[in-house]
Amino acid sequence: MKKKYVWYILIIIAVLCCALNLNVPVQAQHTNSQKMIIAHRGASGYLPEHTLEAVAMAYALGADFIEQDVVLTRDGTPVVLHDIYLDLTTNVREIFPHRARPDGRWYVIDFTLAEIKTLQVSERVQPGTRMVVFPTRFPVGKSDFEIPTLAEEIELIQGLNTSTGRNVGIYPELKQPAFHTREGYDIGKIVLDMLAEYGYEGPEANVYVQCFEPDYTQRLRQELGTKLPLVQLIGAGRVYDVLVTAAGLDLIASYANGIGPALSRIVSEKAGNARKISELVTQAHKRGLVVHPYTFRQDELPPYIQNFDELIRLFFFDIGVDGGFTDFPDRMKNAFSQR
Ligand code: G3P
Ligand code: CA
Repeated sequence: MKKKYVWYILIIIAVLCCALNLNVPVQAQHTNSQKMIIAHRGASGYLPEHTLEAVAMAYALGADFIEQDVVLTRDGTPVVLHDIYLDLTTNVREIFPHRARPDGRWYVIDFTLAEIKTLQVSERVQPGTRMVVFPTRFPVGKSDFEIPTLAEEIELIQGLNTSTGRNVGIYPELKQPAFHTREGYDIGKIVLDMLAEYGYEGPEANVYVQCFEPDYTQRLRQELGTKLPLVQLIGAGRVYDVLVTAAGLDLIASYANGIGPALSRIVSEKAGNARKISELVTQAHKRGLVVHPYTFRQDELPPYIQNFDELIRLFFFDIGVDGGFTDFPDRMKNAFSQR
């Protein structure tokens, strides 16, 4: 084929991609009628989690919301990082070899923002073995990524909203508020103030604020008085069992707009790769709560399912969840489009 025709074809493909992914206004709604794609730590299946590069890619791949796990630096700046530690996703061991606490961990809260900005982010490794968690993802130690502040990430998403005409939302998670309180910081107040500075105020704001600690999520509504949409996260461990009882869900419905349960809270594995579907989605919907489970990964499928598309069909169209956290926003979008 002549070279110029190849270019024509490439340009047509690019225009189609833009039409499909970038220029169609998407008004994310807090209702049960729209299936929401929440990019988990950005497009973390393709680029190191919680980097601005992963955020830009998630945006371009069609996410409706992009998630930020938030922790604080020593100078009280909210930064986007999954852990209160630095040692599983950065080169902190090499740069600050003598700054670990006696437990052998390097804590974000012990470092200033200026220090944190000197670190390089890489794919996540396992504690102990330091083996990479997802071996087929972006190579460890390659390229040059840094830890973003929450403000930088919001500015990137809001800037893209301006330049594309879309309305992608943010989905910050307050990480370990009890730990931050012990260290002398009120992470909820700091983050809510920052969200307000960037225009996220009131029940219609294009944001969900999420947290695993139920007392603290409740406090956001009742003591700190936020009117923003709140999501109560529900982990897979026994400590969260009380939250999925009738009384637990009644309580959540009194302060939150939705729940973010682990996938296994909705579908559990039974002997012989069989599966059991719980009543959680039905019970949550009865109480007016949206349901946004985590985490849909094509490289970490539950044993009861054969492929990613089937997983999406099961949760979204058979069971009826309202949105989901995924490391692969394009794959979720593609699975939706097959309906
Ligand atoms: O916040 C939803 C999901 O991200 C919770 O799990 O551990 O990835 O923050 P984690
Ligand atoms: Ca999270």
